[in-house]
Amino acid sequence: METLLSLQEPKAPNTAGRAVVLAVAEQFFIITHQSCELWLKQLGADLDAAAEALLPPCDPHDLELGLEFLQRSGELIRVLQQQLAVLEKLPLRYFAEFRTYLDTASGAQSAQFRRLTALLGNSHHQGSLYEAFAAAAEYHGQSVHDVLRRGVECGVLHRLAEALVDLGNGYWHWKVAHLALVSKMIGEQDGTGGSSGVDFLARRVTRPFPELRRLRGKVHHS
Ligand code: HEM
Repeated sequence: METLLSLQEPKAPNTAGRAVVLAVAEQFFIITHQSCELWLKQLGADLDAAAEALLPPCDPHDLELGLEFLQRSGELIRVLQQQLAVLEKLPLRYFAEFRTYLDTASGAQSAQFRRLTALLGNSHHQGSLYEAFAAAAEYHGQSVHDVLRRGVECGVLHRLAEALVDLGNGYWHWKVAHLALVSKMIGEQDGTGGSSGVDFLARRVTRPFPELRRLRGKVHHS
């Protein structure tokens, strides 16, 4: 625990005239990023466990286990979004002061977030979790289309589909919350990672599990 608590090293120089409030603001910024990375670690582990449980051969007990992991992941992604949104309370005057010392460091370098995106997919591509769900459904003699069409009759397979859509919405909410935060903090400026900032991020707001959404909508409105 001591090691963990010693990792909040400010980047801005610790000059004699440096106000304590500035140091506290930078610590707030660092802790928010670090806590997000910690939760991403748990989320990645839970999603790996969910995919593993759904991998055929999967009996009903495996499907229930996969569901538990997916439902917890849905909650974790909400925690991540809230942790991020708290940064809206970072006073701009202090952020502007220590931002120059971030150099090219950026959240875009998060390998764990990239991994999350590969698992969930985006509006155009199915990620590996969807593939695992489709394989589990097929193993139980159903297509994804059947599961969505028959709904609650499909029991745990239906609940899995719902959990995936919830997870996808959580990810989407994270992206929107991040975009709102960035817009508030840097306006039209470029990102420290070299992107155009808000414009770049707005193009990356995406909704995972397009096939589930499409089939779900079709069933309930046809
Ligand atoms: C004041 C707070 C923040 C600002 C101004 C900010 C700004 C940005 C910007 C401009 C980008 C685009 C890449 C670049 O040019 O740097 C980016 C990407 C990213 N940031 Fe942040 N960010 C903030 C907080 C956070 C926090 C707390 C996290 C939590 C882990 C985070 C995670 C990410 C991730 C994962 C990406 C890549 C997004 C994607 O692939 O679509 N950011 N951020």
